[in-house]
Amino acid sequence: MTQKTHQITLIPGDGIGPEVSEAVVRIIAATGVKIDWHRHDAGLIAFQKTGHTLPEELLASVRTNKVALKGPVTTPVGEGFTSVNVGLRQALDLYSNLRPVINLPGVASRFQNVDLVIVRENTEDLYAGLEHVVVKGVVESLKIITEVASTRIAEFAFQYARRYGRKKVTAIHKANIMKLSDGLFIECTRNVSKKYPEIAYEERIVDAACMQFVMVPERFDVLVLPNLYGDIVSDLCAGLVGGLGVVPGANLGVEYAVFEAVHGSAPDIAGQNLANPTALLQSALMMLRHIDEAPAADRIMTALCKVLVDGHTRTRDLGGSATTTTFTDAVIAAL
Ligand code: NAI
Repeated sequence: MTQKTHQITLIPGDGIGPEVSEAVVRIIAATGVKIDWHRHDAGLIAFQKTGHTLPEELLASVRTNKVALKGPVTTPVGEGFTSVNVGLRQALDLYSNLRPVINLPGVASRFQNVDLVIVRENTEDLYAGLEHVVVKGVVESLKIITEVASTRIAEFAFQYARRYGRKKVTAIHKANIMKLSDGLFIECTRNVSKKYPEIAYEERIVDAACMQFVMVPERFDVLVLPNLYGDIVSDLCAGLVGGLGVVPGANLGVEYAVFEAVHGSAPDIAGQNLANPTALLQSALMMLRHIDEAPAADRIMTALCKVLVDGHTRTRDLGGSATTTTFTDAVIAAL
């Protein structure tokens, strides 16, 4: 039987994106899984070539292939074009941002018993991009929370919990202040929770939850959050298990799946062969499982853990001096 060749869109991104993407492509190739990568630029690089930061050909490619692997894309702070990442999630209705946060063997961190899953609503909230100047010196940003989006993200969180034998879902909010918007969010999560009596449900106010994350992270299981809190809490939780270099993610919708790490384009280390590809690699493992290539994902995970536990080849963020390339070579050698 001839082996299937998967058609997958690759968005290398910018900053450290091309470096970590290349590392992941090499590691997957070494397993023998066959992938035709359809490469597409996004952000500033795409704008310089096509006049668009999120070119139509990129969206068409993901719509055709259904699956993409994506490196980070820089968003200018306080000026310039709007976020390509947010635009992509909205254009493809990738409503759920799934980010498992778990200790990796051999990676030192403040806690050794973290095993939680972030389910971040990905399409609305303050990320709807509706901002305007009311009069000079006064701006308004609209926080959009809908019953439809809040209910479907809650359904996703509980379905995930049920499928993977998770015990508890915690909804994170600030409904004491934003009584209508966050109030609607937890009204929806609460309603959905009633359909899953075997899964415990609780609500936490975001500020108090943040304190608990850095004191007793082991008491959390599945988290469901509106977009902004989900973004912030994702980086916080990455810090619990060794940093942004190791935490993966997936943007999932009904039709499409775009796998990308939690981290950004890391301009401070871009182009220096210093980035840790582990986060994007683990996102790619989620992708391999999604396309029914679980054995290859398992092999890569075993090799990755071997290299991390051995400890001789670690990137700088994990206290070592390996480059992106030498780390990648070590994982391939361990396969
Ligand atoms: P960042 O995540 O790029 O970097 C934060 C810190 O973590 C930096 O010190 C960086 O060197 C380190 N870091 C991140 N990834 C690493 C890796 N793989 N290996 C080793 N160290 C790593 O966050 P920052 O600096 O706030 O954002 C930079 C740009 O990235 C911004 O334009 C932001 O909008 C964009 N961004 C894009 C995302 C995406 O494409 N999904 C997600 C987050 C930010």
